[in-house]
Amino acid sequence: MALLSVMSAKGAPGATTTALLLANLWPTSSLVVDADPLGGDIALRLAGEHGPLNPNQGLMSLLPAARRGLVPEMVPGHAQTALGGQQVMPGLPGPEQAVAVAPLWPELANAFGKVPGTDVFADVGQVHARSSHLVMLERADAVICVFRPTAWSVVHTRRRLEALQDILRERTSLVGMVCVAAHDQAAEAKAAIEGVTSGLRWTTDLGVIAHDRKAVVMYEGGVVYRPERSLLARSGSGVVQRLHDGLAAAGVLSGVPTPVDEASAGDEAAVDESPFDGEPGKRADRTRGRRVLRRASR
Ligand SMILES: Nc1ncnc2c1ncn2[C@@H]1O[C@H](COP(=O)(O)OP(=O)(O)OP(=O)(O)O)[C@@H](O)[C@H]1O
Ligand SMILES: [Mg+2]
Repeated sequence: MALLSVMSAKGAPGATTTALLLANLWPTSSLVVDADPLGGDIALRLAGEHGPLNPNQGLMSLLPAARRGLVPEMVPGHAQTALGGQQVMPGLPGPEQAVAVAPLWPELANAFGKVPGTDVFADVGQVHARSSHLVMLERADAVICVFRPTAWSVVHTRRRLEALQDILRERTSLVGMVCVAAHDQAAEAKAAIEGVTSGLRWTTDLGVIAHDRKAVVMYEGGVVYRPERSLLARSGSGVVQRLHDGLAAAGVLSGVPTPVDEASAGDEAAVDESPFDGEPGKRADRTRGRRVLRRASR
């Protein structure tokens, strides 16, 4: 199905966190691929269902297959289930392995975009015009660019979009902008989005992801009580809705997405239907522990 690459320009604005959040809230089957050539941290940040995730099962185990000729059907076999049910593919141990992967990115990108029944959210980290994994943008159906409402993040993001515009404008169906900003930074976020996107008509404003320190610990091995009620989840649901709508309008995704009612994200009904820990119907208030939010918007 679709390949959605989540990138940043500079300064750790929250690309990895946003990739995980969007995949968790995605209305259909999703896989998060840790495709940051500088080294992945998804396997370090998330737990597996029965202990730590295996760092060797993921991109590292997929590489030999990619050298021999990869078919998209092989991809799920190299993914793992994180605690909470999200499918994830751990990435490279560090930048030292990036050289070995460099010639294989085209093969990998092709496969990620055609995994049967699953949309792939690839955390591609920081990308520039000479990145070894630039093809992960070229072959993507959507590129989601994450930034913060600071002057330096806006300037770097804007410059990077301009440097990459031939690729983004010509080859990608949707270039979505996501600003990670605190609740009391609405004015700064608005100005930042304007600064990044003005005049770039090929970009789409996907909105703001809440800067939510309390909730984000669920992606750092911490405990979150009723994560579906957090500002992080509610803001993420809005971004997911706009992204899904944009891809459906571009003809990338078929069908109409289930409307996400942000205001009802914390309703009892929504909570009861959340498949936490692979147990549909399990109530969120009994899901204390190292849980990962999983489609809490439904
Ligand atoms: N929505 C958010 N609310 C609160 N904190 C956040 C949010 N998003 C990211 N952070 C925090 O910001 C830091 C960087 O986040 P993250 O690792 O997702 O960024 P990144 O862009 O992937 O960075 P890098 O380029 O180093 O991989 C982390 O401490 C993370 O917890
Ligand atoms: Mg990252």
